[in-house]
Amino acid sequence: MKIVVIGGTGLIGSNLVNRLLRHDHTVIAASPASGVNTITGEGLNEALKNAAIVVDVSNSPSFEDKAVLDFFQRSTMNLLTAEAYAGVKHHVAMSVVGAERLPESGYLRAKIAQEELIKESGIPYSILRSTQFFEFAGRIAQAGTTGEEVHISPAEFQPIASDEVVSALADIVLGAPLNATVEVAGPVRMPMVEFIRYYLNATEDSRRLISDGHALYFGAELNDRSLVPGGNPRLGRIKYEDWFRAQLATAQS
Ligand SMILES: NC(=O)c1ccc[n+]([C@@H]2O[C@H](COP(=O)([O-])OP(=O)(O)OC[C@H]3O[C@@H](n4cnc5c(N)ncnc54)[C@H](OP(=O)(O)O)[C@@H]3O)[C@@H](O)[C@H]2O)c1
Repeated sequence: MKIVVIGGTGLIGSNLVNRLLRHDHTVIAASPASGVNTITGEGLNEALKNAAIVVDVSNSPSFEDKAVLDFFQRSTMNLLTAEAYAGVKHHVAMSVVGAERLPESGYLRAKIAQEELIKESGIPYSILRSTQFFEFAGRIAQAGTTGEEVHISPAEFQPIASDEVVSALADIVLGAPLNATVEVAGPVRMPMVEFIRYYLNATEDSRRLISDGHALYFGAELNDRSLVPGGNPRLGRIKYEDWFRAQLATAQS
């Protein structure tokens, strides 16, 4: 079976490609770096020829409100059109837990637009919504930084190791289309500011951390419900502190 991973060079995509290659499938890592561009359409029809499954784990190069909406709308429309032409049987995509609860965030509005296009396409689909990846800590801290201060919300969230997201995603890719949205989350619910405190301490970052209930998370003010999963998520097992220590050990070996 041929599986095309759009964004196959990214954090999730490269890990997913390696995992799927362990099964007896033809797996194509497609991205601009390999000559496949969902915005311009370059290489898309050729990559999708005879593909049974397409996984979209691409991401926008810019998180600016208009740019990110343009990216997810155009790339998803181009991709779904090419999939219909190629006769693809299952479209799998990643989205974000709680996206519909934070319409003030341009990024999350763009993810909702992507989800809607997928649901309306008529192509059998599965959407996996994840909470924030552990690997995303630096970007969250950066987004909350003004000068030497990092303003982060104390709202609860439930981050996860991207490797555990990929496990869930691989199971979905290798199963029948769900025609539904499912969630995956980390094992521990914690205030976002405490997660960032651990990250700043562990990376010996001297910026001053401020717990700020009005701090914006990519444009949106959070509450304790905004980013946490609903009733029945698949849960990862790896805790952030253990993950961080393992990353350090790997880097030092
Ligand atoms: N970060 C989080 O905490 C989080 C949480 C929940 C869900 N998600 C979702 O997870 C997904 C994957 O995120 P990620 O962090 O793995 O992304 P990433 O590491 O930033 O990788 C992005 C990928 O998109 C590709 N790409 C960019 N422009 C493209 C285009 N025009 N055509 C085709 N491919 C293009 C890139 O290719 P090149 O390398 O060639 O540029 C790269 O392979 C995203 O949909 C994101 O919304 C993320």
